[in-house]
Amino acid sequence: MNPEQAHKPDTVLPDVVMPKCPHRNLLHGQKALVTGANSGIGRSVALHLAREGADVAVNYAFDDASAQAVVAEIKANGGHAIAIKADVSQEEQVQAMFAQMRQEFGTIDILVNNAGLQSDAPFHEMTLAQWNKVINVNLTGQFLCAREAIREFKRRGVVKEISCAAGKIISMSSVHEIIPWSGHVNYAASKGGVMLMNKSLAQEVAPYRIRVNSVCPGAIRTPINRDAWETPEAYADLMKLIPYNRIGEPEDISRAVVWLASDDSDYANGISLFIDGGMTLYPGFAEGG
Ligand code: BGC
Repeated sequence: MNPEQAHKPDTVLPDVVMPKCPHRNLLHGQKALVTGANSGIGRSVALHLAREGADVAVNYAFDDASAQAVVAEIKANGGHAIAIKADVSQEEQVQAMFAQMRQEFGTIDILVNNAGLQSDAPFHEMTLAQWNKVINVNLTGQFLCAREAIREFKRRGVVKEISCAAGKIISMSSVHEIIPWSGHVNYAASKGGVMLMNKSLAQEVAPYRIRVNSVCPGAIRTPINRDAWETPEAYADLMKLIPYNRIGEPEDISRAVVWLASDDSDYANGISLFIDGGMTLYPGFAEGG
């Protein structure tokens, strides 16, 4: 192979197996709630928080069996978990979920505001129901859960044996908090809203030693974007948007969430952490401009 060939990027790389991280029990004694934790990124986040020693409430809106499977997997690995059913867009259900969490775990140290969905349509065909559903779950749902968590963080304050912070909120945002997305206007609007909700909230609660940060995934291999990676043609198309030339795996995101939940990131507050293989690097400019 001549050197030029050696440096030519492949179009489709084989699945990459990430090296295993040693577990450091970084979240020992902490109580975490992960919304939408019965599948995709949320499931992986719940498993990773538990592996780092947190007790985890696995929230889900439907499909009891999938939530119970996550709980069972955590328990099989020696962790502690419960499943709590609640639609995050419904105020009463969110309040009941936090009450149950407090009853079972005593308090909350980490909220991962993960539940989210897409309901795509060309703008002129988008129904009000589609608009409302996405805004209600992705944005209002994060507000409702964050508000309950903030109330508890403020009530309890810092317990220094547990964490330097009085509480941590990690929101699942998206590259689409800054990348416009034609055909997905409701989704992009919800994530743009999440960005300024979180930064404003971080500013407001920082004096209480509460940290609020976002993780902004690019294309991650989950059911939400199956169409974008399932066939070789779709995958090759997707790679045009990802300089690093591989799709993300849920674990890529979970590792970032663990860091943001732990005291290792104590000085990070109000950030949007893009985990996207370079999707936000304007890949079109690699050869254009
Ligand atoms: C969306 C995915 C999409 C990715 C990159 C995510 O926020 O949910 O469907 O593949 O952004 O465009």
